[in-house]
Amino acid sequence: MPADRPFTCSVFIGTSLDGFIAREDGDLAWLTSRGEAAGGDLGYQKFADGIDTVVMGRGTYESGLAFDTWPHEGKHVAVLSTTLPDGADPRITVHRDLDRLLRALAERGATSVYVDGGQVIRAFLRAGLIDEMTITTVPVLLGTGLPLFGPVGGDVPLTHRSTQVFGAGVVQSTYTVERATSP
Ligand SMILES: NC(=O)c1ccc[n+]([C@@H]2O[C@H](COP(=O)([O-])OP(=O)(O)OC[C@H]3O[C@@H](n4cnc5c(N)ncnc54)[C@H](OP(=O)(O)O)[C@@H]3O)[C@@H](O)[C@H]2O)c1
Repeated sequence: MPADRPFTCSVFIGTSLDGFIAREDGDLAWLTSRGEAAGGDLGYQKFADGIDTVVMGRGTYESGLAFDTWPHEGKHVAVLSTTLPDGADPRITVHRDLDRLLRALAERGATSVYVDGGQVIRAFLRAGLIDEMTITTVPVLLGTGLPLFGPVGGDVPLTHRSTQVFGAGVVQSTYTVERATSP
């Protein structure tokens, strides 16, 4: 647990080999079809069982509304957005910026946070808040789309923890983010 906040922050996300998490229009069939071909849930349920809070961007929240069932039952779900109205959805709380979100999570006793959505993951990386990332890469190049990574304010050194190869050429790697050490 980091000394400056009472919760850990983890990423669990699927990308194309060239680093996109969705097509420009939000399409995810290139990912879900290969995930299904790989078999099983690729460790998602085990990951989800270990978290109590989901933080996502408005983009990810709105794309999730298309699912038949709410995928985060039983978790506290916090959505970062400057535009969603407060009280837009009783299943979520809306936060206008990162600082206020972090304070609210600490106050409500969050211990293990799942950070989702490309822009939000990058904001957390820039702020030095990500502890662990599990990236599931599917074998396709999309060329364009919504990126997972981008400028994050400098190098982010990672330690490789594990890699698993699933069916259909799906490769999943877990990294921990090295903490900056005080001089
Ligand atoms: N491949 C996967 O495993 C995976 C996983 C998750 C999501 N996705 C896909 O990724 C897409 C969404 O990702 P994305 O990168 O476009 O967006 P995102 O990070 O989910 O959401 C971006 C929005 O979040 C809000 N936001 C971000 N940072 C903020 C901050 N610091 N303060 C306040 N608000 C902030 C802004 O909303 P406002 O404009 O309202 O201010 C921004 O437009 C969707 O298509 C989704 O289906 C894929």
